Amino acid sequence: MSPSAPESAALVVTRTRTELAAARAGLTGPVAVVMTMGALHAGHAELIREARRRAASVLVTIFLNPLQFGPNEDLARYPRTLDDDLALAAGHGADVVFAPGPDVVYPDGDPGVRIAAGPLGQVLEGASRPGHFDGVLTVVAKLLHLTRADLAFFGQKDAQQLLLVRRMVRDLDLGVEVVAVPTVREDDGLAMSSRNRYLTPFDREVALVLQRALEAGRRAASEGPSAVRRAARDVLVAEPAARVDYLALVDPHDLADVPEHHHGEALLAVAARVGSTRLIDNVPLVVGRGVD
Ligand code: PAJ
Repeated sequence: MSPSAPESAALVVTRTRTELAAARAGLTGPVAVVMTMGALHAGHAELIREARRRAASVLVTIFLNPLQFGPNEDLARYPRTLDDDLALAAGHGADVVFAPGPDVVYPDGDPGVRIAAGPLGQVLEGASRPGHFDGVLTVVAKLLHLTRADLAFFGQKDAQQLLLVRRMVRDLDLGVEVVAVPTVREDDGLAMSSRNRYLTPFDREVALVLQRALEAGRRAASEGPSAVRRAARDVLVAEPAARVDYLALVDPHDLADVPEHHHGEALLAVAARVGSTRLIDNVPLVVGRGVD
């Protein structure tokens, strides 16, 4: 989109707390926030559009949060595409973007006081990425306070993050309405992700195995949990170029492995490394005999 397009003319870009506060003061409520780390794609666009539908004003944050990256993770190479991000945010109806640097968000360096994600932050993604969810929840809490949002939109793509944000809002009485948005996929089923930009054409083909495995699991849902796990695992093992980190069928409320007699809602989640890129995906399911 060209910078002179009418939608972008209305976008207010803020970089400091003072600029954000001034822009926020001019917004009509209810105000929705869509938090992102940049490298925006159609998944982020859907969150912004959904926020536009549900709220009078939409604020998008673009902040690559160092606190949620481990020492051996991809912070340094994470794609930075601010000009394109601003055009995308404007084109889908954002009123204000807050794009601060780390010294604006963490003026005293790494914060000594943080949010502890607790046991739900230690399984699945948390087991592979120690401290990740403490870093996520700390920045989400800060951005909720800075933006004073009434509603906050999060993608189902990061199901554990969504669950933990909901839990934090309840446990700490943050008084914001959390809205979930279903996963947006490419035409061939690959879940949209900023990290897809790292994939070589070969990796891109291999990466499709995640969604194929979830789909196989979904098709076996009526046969019960072990059939779901087996169907998904069979697809994954047939693609040795994807190094599986975990495949889990869990209760969506507490992330505990569902037992064989489980009947009802479940979450089938997968994480795998493809080339140098770690990808995650999940599908919500209803498992158990006679439920299809
Ligand atoms: P990021 O990975 O940029 O994602 C920002 C938001 O977009 C999250 O709510 C995420 O779940 C959602 N999203 C990403 N891909 C999606 C897709 N394919 N379909 C639907 N929604 C999608 O998640 C983060 O940033 C950070 O952890 C953050 C919450 C901003 C805190 O730093």
